[in-house]
Amino acid sequence: RPGAEQWVPERPTHEALLEAVRGCRGCELHADATQAVMGSGPPGARLLVLGEQPGDREDVEGEPFVGPAGRLLDRALTDVGVDPAEVYRTNVVKHFRWSGMRGKRRIHQSPKTAHVAACAPWLRAELSVVRPQGAVLLGGTAGKAVYGSSFKVGETRGRLVDWPERLGTEHPPAWVLTTTHPSAVLRADDRDAAYDDLVADLRVAAEALS
Ligand code: URA
Ligand code: SF4
Repeated sequence: RPGAEQWVPERPTHEALLEAVRGCRGCELHADATQAVMGSGPPGARLLVLGEQPGDREDVEGEPFVGPAGRLLDRALTDVGVDPAEVYRTNVVKHFRWSGMRGKRRIHQSPKTAHVAACAPWLRAELSVVRPQGAVLLGGTAGKAVYGSSFKVGETRGRLVDWPERLGTEHPPAWVLTTTHPSAVLRADDRDAAYDDLVADLRVAAEALS
C-alpha cells in the first residue's frame, strides 16, 4: 500500500510518532532530505498550526518552524496574545523537498499532490494525539491538503470554517482558520501590510480559543 500508513503506529503517542517517522519511506521525499521533521508542541495544545513542509533550517535541525518563517510566525502569534510554546506546529509533509542551491541555501519546492496524500496518515495521527480545539492552516499547500485542490487562500482567509469530513479524522478540530503562509509575508512587496494581514487573521483564531 503506497503512502505512510504502514509506518504509523496504531495507537500513537507523540513520542512514538517522533520515533516512527524517522523510518518512513512512504514517498520519495525522504531520499534527498536530512531527516523527517515531525510536528512539535505540548500534548493537549489547544491550537494546531499547519505549514507546508520543513524548510532548509528545519531539515537540518529536525524541528519545525525554526527558520525565518517560523520566527515571523512566533512574532505574529505573540502579537495576538498566543504563546508560541503552547501551540502544536506541524507540516503537511514531514520531509524537505528541494532542488538546487541559491547561495548556501537549498531551493525549496512545494510538495506534489502525491507527496501530500502519501504523508496524510502522519497528520491524521497527530490530530488524534493532540486533539486541538482549532487549526490554523498556513498557505495554499496546507489549505489544499485539508480542503482539496480547489482551495484558494483568498476565499476563506480570516474567518472560521469547518474541518471537512473528507479527511475522515476521528477527532477533528472544532474550527479552522486559513491564512497566508509566513514565507509569503517575507516575500511580499509590502511586508508590513502582509504582516498586518496575517496578524489580523490570527487574531480571529486567538479570539476563538477558549
Ligand atoms: N515553513 C513551513 O511551512 N514549515 C516549517 O516548518 C518551516 C517553514
Ligand atoms: Fe514519509 Fe511523509 Fe517523508 Fe514521504 S514526506 S517519506 S510520506 S514522512
